[in-house]
Amino acid sequence: GATSETLICALADIPDDEGLRVDLNGFPPLAVWRVGEQAYVTDDTCTHGQASLTADGMQNEFVIECGLHQGEFDIRDGSVRSPPCSKPLRVYATRVVDDQVYAVLQEEQG
Ligand code: FES
Repeated sequence: GATSETLICALADIPDDEGLRVDLNGFPPLAVWRVGEQAYVTDDTCTHGQASLTADGMQNEFVIECGLHQGEFDIRDGSVRSPPCSKPLRVYATRVVDDQVYAVLQEEQG
């Protein structure tokens, strides 16, 4: 797959403590989160059910709590912080350049 960086949004577009859902052709729904001047791009869909983490979740710094069953993920590496989630959340290498957020997205296999 492609390994180039994709422009996701401007840092200023990301609401505090909520994240921003981003839909791009060919990719699952993405979520971009902001902590200070750093941004983190993850999948938007919880790995436990079909909840949208930006729509129903709650952000507390690096931890996102899913609104459906209160499972939690760390957005820095996608690791599970709280059950019932057991599968890590997919995360994408992200960086901020001139207040623009870029991520390395990989097309879904198959
Ligand atoms: Fe997210 Fe169940 S759907 S914790």
